[in-house]
Amino acid sequence: MASRRKSSLIVVSNREPYTIKRDGRLEKTVGGLVSALDPVMCSARGVWIASTRARRGMKVEVPPEAPSYTMRLVPVSTKDFEDYYDGYSNSFLWPLCHITLDRVYLRDRYWESYKRVNQLFAEAVVEEADGRKMFVWLQDYHLALCADYIKEKNPGLKLSLFWHIPWPPYDVFRACPHRREVLRGLLANDLLGFQIEAFTRNFLRCVELELKDEVRIEGDMIYTERGKTRVSAFPISIDYGWFEEAATSSRAERFLRRFKRERNLEGRLIGLSVDRLDYTKGIIRGLSALELFFEKYPEFKRRFSFIQIAVPTRVSETYLGYMETVRRKVYTINSRFATGDWRPIEYIEKKFTHQELAGLYRGADLLMISSVYDGMNLVAKEYIASQVDLTGIVLVSLFAGVSEDVPGVITINPYATENYADTIKMALEIDDREKQRLIKKARGYIRRKDIYRWVSGILREIRRIR
Ligand code: UDP
Ligand code: G6P
Repeated sequence: MASRRKSSLIVVSNREPYTIKRDGRLEKTVGGLVSALDPVMCSARGVWIASTRARRGMKVEVPPEAPSYTMRLVPVSTKDFEDYYDGYSNSFLWPLCHITLDRVYLRDRYWESYKRVNQLFAEAVVEEADGRKMFVWLQDYHLALCADYIKEKNPGLKLSLFWHIPWPPYDVFRACPHRREVLRGLLANDLLGFQIEAFTRNFLRCVELELKDEVRIEGDMIYTERGKTRVSAFPISIDYGWFEEAATSSRAERFLRRFKRERNLEGRLIGLSVDRLDYTKGIIRGLSALELFFEKYPEFKRRFSFIQIAVPTRVSETYLGYMETVRRKVYTINSRFATGDWRPIEYIEKKFTHQELAGLYRGADLLMISSVYDGMNLVAKEYIASQVDLTGIVLVSLFAGVSEDVPGVITINPYATENYADTIKMALEIDDREKQRLIKKARGYIRRKDIYRWVSGILREIRRIR
């Protein structure tokens, strides 16, 4: 407890790392942000501020099995939450940053709530810091304005924001009517992190074109009249050691054996995708490529099964509509190709624990990441870390950050369906030595650049500035 108090780290995100269920149980939430930061907080300790729709705020020690840090929940009214989270964050910024402009929808009241909720978070941060020198680490697109509000109240705090999702090119960002306010809000941070260089460049270009009269840009440093901001790429990663160990555990092995038995997968080649049920994940693109693959290469019927895990996290109409489309597509493919006791797609709309996933990752011969746009994609890194037998191969969309970050993966274009289908065949037939060469390369890279390296890189940078 004493060491917890001493920590000078405050992490802030919209999403809480652990959901409090009705019966009081704590359940880890699904998503790259929480997956990456939970192990970091377990070793750094400190306080993680997130939102809740409960009427009252509260503090809980987490994780439940080994309390290591404090989760502080900030109450946001249902109305504000709808407009700030479902509205501005997920109906506007999310599709904008993922360049799916036809899905963008914006109301004035979304922006008003977004500002109000960013204020609420800022107040909680200032209260939590309580006059002490702290490092405040804001997470993601829900909190673009927060640093500005914090600085108004406490200019002494060190502030950084990590933008987990892509930053779009200016031509797309122009569709944001509040673009100057958003950029100014972000420039109240001392350090701004993006997943890959391309997003950093896009951001710098947006600042240059939008705020040219009020900023000076020198390399990756932006000077404003209020101060300066360094903008850099820090590709996010995973707890490599944890996944490697989990994959070799007897629990993971038992889980995999049972899973294969129950789903009649023993003796077959296995393909896998693990996604939140989100249109940016390109689930339909991947399924279309698989449909064409089975059509062109019928010799793989019965020999190869594909597991598509799709976890619903957001529940707006857009997401429910996408869920229906995915279910229909799976139904079509299975109706077309299933024979006897075999079906091509095992579709599972359920959340798995990391322990279970480690088992599945180890047992799958092929991983497919079909994202139409994705900041990084941690599933790819988790699969690679879990590939202890060096038998798997990874196909990654060229629109996912991970394809630029990690060597040893095979890049696919989710829009080029024919080529994607042919690449699946090629990957399944690749010889063992080549497979081992590729996966070893990928593993070596992620082992060196794990989540702890990511954090220390950011902390080093924040110490250097100011
Ligand atoms: N995940 C999980 N259980 C599931 C499906 C996914 O814990 O059933 C986790 C997955 O292991 C990964 C995260 O959710 O850590 C997804 O992160 P990713 O970067 O791939 O995508 P995001 O959800 O952040 O867009
Ligand atoms: C992505 C975003 C995170 C978000 C996660 C899950 O990883 O970058 O900010 O938490 O998706 O989405 P949700 O809306 O359920 O929090």
